[in-house]
Amino acid sequence: MTKQLNVGFVGTGIFAKEVHLPNYQSKPEHYKPTAAFNRTKAKAEQFAEIAGIDNSKVHNSLDEIIADPDVDFLDVLLPVENNLDVVTKAIKHNKPVVIEKPIAANIEQARKIVQLDESSSTPILIAEQWLYFKAIEEIKQRLPKIGQILSFTYRSTGPFRKSSQYLNTSWRLKPNHIGGYLSDGGVHQLAVLTGVLGEIESISALTKQVREESGTDDILFSTLKTKDGAIGTFTYGSAFGSTEKHGSFIIFGLNGSITLDFSAGKPKTLNVKVGSFGEDVPDEETIEIKESSPPGIPDEFENFYQSIVNNDKSLLLAKPRVAFHHLAIIDAALKSSKANGDHIKVEEP
Ligand SMILES: NC(=O)c1ccc[n+]([C@@H]2O[C@H](COP(=O)([O-])OP(=O)(O)OC[C@H]3O[C@@H](n4cnc5c(N)ncnc54)[C@H](OP(=O)(O)O)[C@@H]3O)[C@@H](O)[C@H]2O)c1
Repeated sequence: MTKQLNVGFVGTGIFAKEVHLPNYQSKPEHYKPTAAFNRTKAKAEQFAEIAGIDNSKVHNSLDEIIADPDVDFLDVLLPVENNLDVVTKAIKHNKPVVIEKPIAANIEQARKIVQLDESSSTPILIAEQWLYFKAIEEIKQRLPKIGQILSFTYRSTGPFRKSSQYLNTSWRLKPNHIGGYLSDGGVHQLAVLTGVLGEIESISALTKQVREESGTDDILFSTLKTKDGAIGTFTYGSAFGSTEKHGSFIIFGLNGSITLDFSAGKPKTLNVKVGSFGEDVPDEETIEIKESSPPGIPDEFENFYQSIVNNDKSLLLAKPRVAFHHLAIIDAALKSSKANGDHIKVEEP
C-alpha cells in the first residue's frame, strides 16, 4: 500500500511556492501539504491557502512545526545559514528533513551537519536536485567506452538577468553563505561533474565580482584535479552581458570523448565518439536526455520518500557528506583566488 506523508513547510518563499509545492501536488498519493511556518506569518497564511493547508496548521515558530505530530517530514527553504539549527532540532525530534543547498553557509557548519547526520538515523536530504540529473547515469554507463579518462571541461555560463525574481531577495543581495551565487548555483554544477567523475582533490581558481547585486564574487574560472587523476576546467557564472545560456560538459578519454550539451532553449543531448586517433572514423552515438526543469526534482523527492517509508536513510543519494564536498570545492576555489590562483586541496568532512 502507498503511504501518504504529511509535509510541513518551513520558509514559504519563491521556491517553496513555485517548485516544491507543485511537485508535491503532482503526487497526492505520496504527499499531503499539512503545515507551514514562515518568519512573516502573513506569507505562510497565503501559502497555506494555495496549498490547501488548514489555517490552524500555520505555526508560529520552527520549534512548534517540528514538534507537530501530524507532520511526517519538514521541507525547509530558508537562507542556508539556518540549516545547522534546523538539522540539530529535527534530529532531536527524529523528524526527517530536506534542507536547501548549499548544505550550509560555510565549511564549519557543513562539517557539523555531516557529523550530526552520520550519528543519527533521521533521514536528512540536501536539496541538490542536479544530483538526480538523468544525464549523470547515462554518461556513467558510457564512460568505459572511451577508455582511460584523461581530462574534462565543464562550463555553465549565462547572461545577467536584472529582472530575476531571485535577485531581489534580501539574503541574496547580502549573502552570509560563502561565495554567494557561486555556491548557490555552483554546487548544482559540481554535483554533475563529481557525480560522473568522482571527487575533486584540488583546485586552482580565479573569481571576480561583476555585478553589485551579487554581493560578492560571481564568476569563477578554474582548473581542477580529480582524486582519480583526471585534470580539467570548471567555469561558472551568470553575470555576463548578452550571451547564450550555455551548459556543456566534455570528457576526454584515451579512446574517445563524451559531450553533454545542456544549454538552455534546446534539447539536452549526449554525444559519444569512440575512436583512438584523429584518422579513425569514430563510432558515434547521440541521444536526447528527457529531463524535468529544473533537472532532477521529481527523482529527488521520490528518493527522500523511499528513505522515509522504508526507514532507511542509506537509500539517500543527496546525503550531507556528498553535498559537503560540493561546498568544499567552492570554499577551496575562493581560498585559491585569494592566493592569486594557488592550487588548494579540497577539505574533507
Ligand atoms: N534547489 C534549487 O535549485 C533552489 C532554487 C531556488 C532557491 N533555493 C533555495 O531555497 C531557499 C529559499 O529560496 P527562495 O528563492 O524561495 O527565497 P525567498 O523567496 O527569499 O524565501 C526565503 C524564505 O526564508 C525566510 N527567511 C529569510 N531569512 C530568514 C531568517 N533569518 N530566519 C527565518 N526565515 C528567514 C523568508 O521569510 P520572510 O517571508 O519573512 O522574508 C522566506 O520565507 C534558499 O535556501 C535557496 O537557496 C533552491
